[in-house]
Amino acid sequence: MSDAVSDAEATGWRLAVVVLAAGAGTRMRSDTPKVLHPIGGRSLLAHVLDAVAPLEPAETAVVVGHGRDAVIATLPDSARPVVQQERRGTGHAARLAVEAIAARGNLPGTVLVIFGDTPLLTTATLERLVAAHRRTGATATLLTAEAPDPTGYGRIIRDEHGAVRRVVEQRDASETERAVREINTGVAAFETDALRDGLKRLRSDNAAGEEYLPDVVAAFVAEGRLVVPVVGDIAETAGVNDRVQLAAAAAALRDRILTGWMRSGVSVADPATTWVDVGVVISPDAVLLPNVQLHGSTSIGTGALLGPDCTLIDTMVGARAVVCRAHCEGAVIGESASVGPFAYLRPGARIGRGAKVGAYVEVKAAELGDHSKVPHLSYVGDATIGADVNIGAGTIFANYDGVEKNRSTVGDGAKTGAHNTFVAPVNIGAGAYTGGGTVVRHDVPPGALAVPGGGPQRTIEGWTERKRPGTRSAAAAAEAATQPEPPDDHQPTESAERER
Ligand code: UD1
Ligand code: CA
Repeated sequence: MSDAVSDAEATGWRLAVVVLAAGAGTRMRSDTPKVLHPIGGRSLLAHVLDAVAPLEPAETAVVVGHGRDAVIATLPDSARPVVQQERRGTGHAARLAVEAIAARGNLPGTVLVIFGDTPLLTTATLERLVAAHRRTGATATLLTAEAPDPTGYGRIIRDEHGAVRRVVEQRDASETERAVREINTGVAAFETDALRDGLKRLRSDNAAGEEYLPDVVAAFVAEGRLVVPVVGDIAETAGVNDRVQLAAAAAALRDRILTGWMRSGVSVADPATTWVDVGVVISPDAVLLPNVQLHGSTSIGTGALLGPDCTLIDTMVGARAVVCRAHCEGAVIGESASVGPFAYLRPGARIGRGAKVGAYVEVKAAELGDHSKVPHLSYVGDATIGADVNIGAGTIFANYDGVEKNRSTVGDGAKTGAHNTFVAPVNIGAGAYTGGGTVVRHDVPPGALAVPGGGPQRTIEGWTERKRPGTRSAAAAAEAATQPEPPDDHQPTESAERER
């Protein structure tokens, strides 16, 4: 742990954090506020707030404006919104935030300003900046970076001794200044009194007609105050202003996350096509094949084999399970279970140890007991299936009667035939069997065999209107009853016949 954090604990030394996030993000061309666009499973703003949280700020103020209700709705309890009605520049935004914190009577001696659109910044870099600020006693400590292409950023203008003189924005810079590759990242630590004073004196006589926060730097230098640059890594400090930069930031974050997992013992066959959100946890010796995406609160057990082509959202995968070409959301997959290829697990699917969900199988709100199998072409919805069960190919748990969902159960050791329909709610007892093509409408006792009843199809006229009154189905049936019978002249023509 670094100086900043341990000092905060030991001496009560604290800072306030100001996050600027009111901008329209015009260059995104989006209805969504820029800072709410996600990478790695979290909004740009959430990444910034996550990076500052370990500094244990006394206060965290987030300046909101464009789309503010949406932004405020995402803020953690530890961050307070400060509304900027008009976007009058980063300096104006910072002033509103600092004065709002002062009005609450809890403004420490140091303020860390950070922009809501720099999602790749790490806590370690912020701690390094704050440590330098305290060590040097500077009035302002700026995080800078060497950008291969500095276009769009404010440039750090140093004198012949290497001391920072001022920051000049792209739009206001001369040709020579634009050639400077050292950029202002937007992250800076300030002594509070000097910052408040500097912010009050900002002007907007520049190309954008805005109050620029970095203009306080030139004012500090003119007053003979110390301004210290800390050079960071452009890979961390890149700002997101448009969707090209959003994709670049997402890719950089992906590489950082995957590098961390590979170093901890996870195999990633193709990092370029593997996407893992920040909140995901992966145990050592798991293997991720190409095109695997792990989102939300997904966790992967040791030795699990995932992919190719899997999307897992908020899903728990047990040790040594195998999941191939599957889409899973809100599911729990047991140890050594096998899922896929081409499986769809929906919320509430719980697959037991060593169980199998095979090809073209959909499972929703259903438990499949240990070592049970649903190998082929089936829908299992709203069911509790015991251990050591085999469900025949092409089986449907008909859970929906048109109005309500109903649950069915299958007892341990039951073996059901191919192409069954279980008309829920229905219970198949332990060790029971069913024949191929059975439509199970009544409970099957333990150990019994149920076979198709045979007989001609029965059609009960007017059933929907009597049994499902008031439903859309009943209304459609009633309307159809008022239509004249279609003439019986739609025999296939010869050419239509040939096309089949
Ligand atoms: C800003 C800096 C530039 C720096 C770059 C780093 C200024 C004037 N320029 O430029 O020196 O190199 O970031 O990425 O500070 N915001 C508000 N209210 C406003 C204006 C902006 O809250 O009135 C917020 C935006 O939402 C954004 C941040 O401040 O999160 C930066 O604003 P943006 O317009 O992106 O500034 P840049 O042009 O990128
Ligand atoms: Ca920006």
